[in-house]
Amino acid sequence: MSSLSCCFFAAGITSCDGFEFPFKKVVFANIGNPQGIGQKPITFVRQVLALLDYPELLEQEAVSTLFPADVISRAKELLSEIPGGTGAYSESQGLLAVRKRIADFIERRDGVPSSPEQIFLTDGASPAVQMALQLCIKDPKDAIMVPVPQYPLYQGSVNLFEGHTVVREFIFCPVGWRCSQREESV
Ligand SMILES: Cc1ncc(COP(=O)(O)O)c(C=O)c1O
Repeated sequence: MSSLSCCFFAAGITSCDGFEFPFKKVVFANIGNPQGIGQKPITFVRQVLALLDYPELLEQEAVSTLFPADVISRAKELLSEIPGGTGAYSESQGLLAVRKRIADFIERRDGVPSSPEQIFLTDGASPAVQMALQLCIKDPKDAIMVPVPQYPLYQGSVNLFEGHTVVREFIFCPVGWRCSQREESV
Protein backbone atom coordinates (compact mmCIF):
# COMPACT_ATOMS: atom_id res chain seq x y z
CA MET A 1 0.00 0.00 0.00
CA SER A 2 1.44 3.42 -0.92
CA SER A 3 1.79 6.09 1.75
CA LEU A 4 -1.08 8.05 0.12
CA SER A 5 -3.44 5.09 0.26
CA CYS A 6 -2.31 4.53 3.87
CA CYS A 7 -3.59 8.06 4.66
CA PHE A 8 -6.94 7.36 3.01
CA PHE A 9 -7.10 4.08 4.85
CA ALA A 10 -6.44 5.85 8.15
CA ALA A 11 -9.16 8.40 7.38
CA GLY A 12 -11.70 5.67 6.72
CA ILE A 13 -11.95 6.51 3.01
CA THR A 14 -12.48 3.48 0.82
CA SER A 15 -12.29 5.12 -2.61
CA CYS A 16 -10.58 8.08 -4.26
CA ASP A 17 -11.11 9.73 -7.69
CA GLY A 18 -13.01 6.72 -8.92
CA PHE A 19 -10.32 4.32 -7.72
CA GLU A 20 -11.83 1.74 -5.38
CA PHE A 21 -9.59 0.36 -2.68
CA PRO A 22 -9.95 -3.40 -2.29
CA PHE A 23 -12.12 -3.08 0.84
CA LYS A 24 -15.56 -1.64 1.57
CA LYS A 25 -15.33 -0.94 5.23
CA VAL A 26 -12.63 0.31 7.60
CA VAL A 27 -12.54 -1.03 11.16
CA PHE A 28 -10.60 1.40 13.33
CA ALA A 29 -8.36 -0.63 15.58
CA ASN A 30 -5.80 2.11 16.19
CA ILE A 31 -7.15 3.19 19.57
CA GLY A 32 -8.35 -0.19 20.77
CA ASN A 33 -11.90 0.96 21.53
CA PRO A 34 -14.07 -2.18 21.82
CA GLN A 35 -17.31 -0.16 21.92
CA GLY A 36 -16.26 1.52 18.66
CA ILE A 37 -16.57 -1.86 16.97
CA GLY A 38 -19.87 -2.77 18.56
CA GLN A 39 -19.03 -4.33 21.95
CA LYS A 40 -21.73 -3.44 24.48
CA PRO A 41 -20.71 -1.69 27.71
CA ILE A 42 -20.77 -3.90 30.81
CA THR A 43 -24.14 -3.21 32.46
CA PHE A 44 -23.18 -4.56 35.90
CA VAL A 45 -20.39 -1.98 36.26
CA ARG A 46 -22.61 0.90 35.17
CA GLN A 47 -25.39 -0.13 37.53
CA VAL A 48 -23.07 -0.45 40.53
CA LEU A 49 -21.54 2.94 39.74
CA ALA A 50 -25.02 4.49 39.48
CA LEU A 51 -25.87 3.27 42.99
CA LEU A 52 -22.51 4.36 44.40
CA ASP A 53 -23.00 7.85 43.03
CA TYR A 54 -26.63 8.09 44.19
CA PRO A 55 -26.89 5.89 47.31
CA GLU A 56 -30.28 7.39 48.22
CA LEU A 57 -31.73 5.10 45.53
CA LEU A 58 -30.93 2.15 47.81
CA GLU A 59 -33.50 3.46 50.29
CA GLN A 60 -36.28 3.53 47.68
CA GLU A 61 -38.67 0.57 47.51
CA ALA A 62 -38.38 0.56 43.71
CA VAL A 63 -34.66 -0.19 43.85
CA SER A 64 -35.20 -3.93 43.63
CA THR A 65 -37.26 -3.53 40.47
CA LEU A 66 -34.67 -1.23 38.87
CA PHE A 67 -31.48 -3.10 39.81
CA PRO A 68 -30.63 -6.81 40.07
CA ALA A 69 -29.89 -8.23 43.54
CA ASP A 70 -26.16 -8.78 42.89
CA VAL A 71 -25.77 -5.12 41.89
CA ILE A 72 -27.53 -3.94 45.05
CA SER A 73 -25.46 -6.13 47.34
CA ARG A 74 -22.17 -5.12 45.64
CA ALA A 75 -23.07 -1.43 45.93
CA LYS A 76 -23.96 -1.83 49.64
CA GLU A 77 -20.78 -3.75 50.32
CA LEU A 78 -18.61 -1.08 48.67
CA LEU A 79 -20.46 1.83 50.26
CA SER A 80 -19.89 0.32 53.70
CA GLU A 81 -16.14 0.57 53.00
CA ILE A 82 -16.06 4.00 51.39
CA PRO A 83 -16.19 6.70 54.05
CA GLY A 84 -17.94 9.76 52.65
CA GLY A 85 -19.12 7.89 49.55
CA THR A 86 -18.01 8.63 46.03
CA GLY A 87 -17.29 12.22 45.09
CA ALA A 88 -15.34 12.88 48.27
CA TYR A 89 -11.55 12.82 48.21
CA SER A 90 -10.24 9.27 48.38
CA GLU A 91 -6.80 8.02 49.37
CA SER A 92 -4.38 9.51 46.79
CA GLN A 93 -3.43 6.01 45.70
CA GLY A 94 -7.09 5.24 44.94
CA LEU A 95 -9.92 3.85 47.08
CA LEU A 96 -8.62 1.18 49.46
CA ALA A 97 -11.85 -0.84 49.02
CA VAL A 98 -11.16 -1.08 45.29
CA ARG A 99 -7.41 -1.71 45.62
CA LYS A 100 -8.10 -4.60 48.03
CA ARG A 101 -10.33 -6.29 45.46
CA ILE A 102 -7.83 -5.72 42.65
CA ALA A 103 -5.06 -7.27 44.74
CA ASP A 104 -7.29 -10.29 45.50
CA PHE A 105 -8.10 -10.62 41.80
CA ILE A 106 -4.43 -10.53 40.78
CA GLU A 107 -3.59 -13.20 43.38
CA ARG A 108 -6.39 -15.47 42.15
CA ARG A 109 -5.69 -14.91 38.47
CA ASP A 110 -1.89 -14.98 38.44
CA GLY A 111 -1.13 -17.02 41.57
CA VAL A 112 1.35 -14.39 42.80
CA PRO A 113 1.13 -12.44 46.06
CA SER A 114 -0.26 -8.93 45.69
CA SER A 115 -1.31 -6.25 48.15
CA PRO A 116 -3.35 -3.02 48.06
CA GLU A 117 -0.16 -1.07 48.89
CA GLN A 118 1.26 -2.12 45.53
CA ILE A 119 -1.76 -0.95 43.54
CA PHE A 120 -2.11 2.61 42.22
CA LEU A 121 -5.42 3.51 40.60
CA THR A 122 -5.60 5.97 37.70
CA ASP A 123 -8.47 7.03 35.48
CA GLY A 124 -7.44 4.90 32.51
CA ALA A 125 -4.13 3.55 31.29
CA SER A 126 -2.86 6.85 29.87
CA PRO A 127 -2.19 8.70 33.16
CA ALA A 128 -0.36 5.63 34.53
CA VAL A 129 1.81 5.33 31.42
CA GLN A 130 2.53 9.06 31.50
CA MET A 131 3.51 8.97 35.18
CA ALA A 132 5.89 6.08 34.53
CA LEU A 133 7.44 7.84 31.53
CA GLN A 134 7.79 11.09 33.45
CA LEU A 135 9.67 9.25 36.18
CA CYS A 136 12.01 7.64 33.64
CA ILE A 137 12.87 10.76 31.62
CA LYS A 138 15.30 13.14 33.29
CA ASP A 139 16.89 14.79 30.27
CA PRO A 140 16.83 14.59 26.49
CA LYS A 141 19.50 11.90 26.52
CA ASP A 142 17.10 9.44 28.18
CA ALA A 143 15.76 7.05 25.56
CA ILE A 144 12.53 5.12 25.70
CA MET A 145 12.08 1.98 23.63
CA VAL A 146 8.63 1.96 22.08
CA PRO A 147 7.32 -1.12 20.30
CA VAL A 148 5.80 -0.40 16.91
CA PRO A 149 3.13 -0.44 15.63
CA GLN A 150 2.46 1.76 18.62
CA TYR A 151 -0.42 3.50 20.34
CA PRO A 152 0.16 7.26 19.76
CA LEU A 153 0.25 8.03 23.50
CA TYR A 154 3.78 6.69 23.88
CA GLN A 155 5.74 8.74 21.36
CA GLY A 156 3.65 11.84 22.12
CA SER A 157 4.32 11.57 25.86
CA VAL A 158 8.05 10.98 25.37
CA ASN A 159 8.16 14.19 23.30
CA LEU A 160 6.13 16.04 25.93
CA PHE A 161 8.57 15.05 28.68
CA GLU A 162 11.50 15.96 26.41
CA GLY A 163 12.96 12.52 26.26
CA HIS A 164 14.81 12.75 23.02
CA THR A 165 15.40 9.39 21.48
CA VAL A 166 12.73 6.87 20.80
CA VAL A 167 14.26 3.56 19.83
CA ARG A 168 11.78 1.43 17.99
CA GLU A 169 11.57 -2.28 17.83
CA PHE A 170 9.20 -4.00 15.44
CA ILE A 171 7.30 -6.34 17.69
CA PHE A 172 6.62 -8.76 14.88
CA CYS A 173 10.32 -9.03 14.23
CA PRO A 174 11.72 -12.44 15.19
CA VAL A 175 14.53 -10.90 17.28
CA GLY A 176 12.19 -10.59 20.30
CA TRP A 177 12.72 -7.43 22.30
CA ARG A 178 16.35 -6.87 21.33
CA CYS A 179 17.20 -3.82 19.21
CA SER A 180 19.07 -4.18 15.98
CA GLN A 181 22.48 -2.50 15.96
CA ARG A 182 21.10 0.19 13.65
CA GLU A 183 18.26 1.00 16.05
CA GLU A 184 20.56 1.12 19.07
CA SER A 185 22.66 3.78 17.37
CA VAL A 186 19.71 6.05 16.46
C1 LIG B 1 -1.80 0.14 23.83
C2 LIG B 1 -2.66 1.17 24.53
N1 LIG B 1 -2.08 1.99 25.43
C3 LIG B 1 -2.81 2.93 26.08
C4 LIG B 1 -4.16 3.07 25.83
C5 LIG B 1 -4.92 4.16 26.56
O1 LIG B 1 -5.79 3.64 27.47
P1 LIG B 1 -6.85 4.58 28.24
O2 LIG B 1 -7.90 4.93 27.24
O3 LIG B 1 -7.33 3.70 29.35
O4 LIG B 1 -6.14 5.79 28.74
C6 LIG B 1 -4.79 2.24 24.91
C7 LIG B 1 -6.23 2.38 24.65
O5 LIG B 1 -6.77 1.77 23.75
C8 LIG B 1 -4.03 1.26 24.24
O6 LIG B 1 -4.60 0.44 23.33
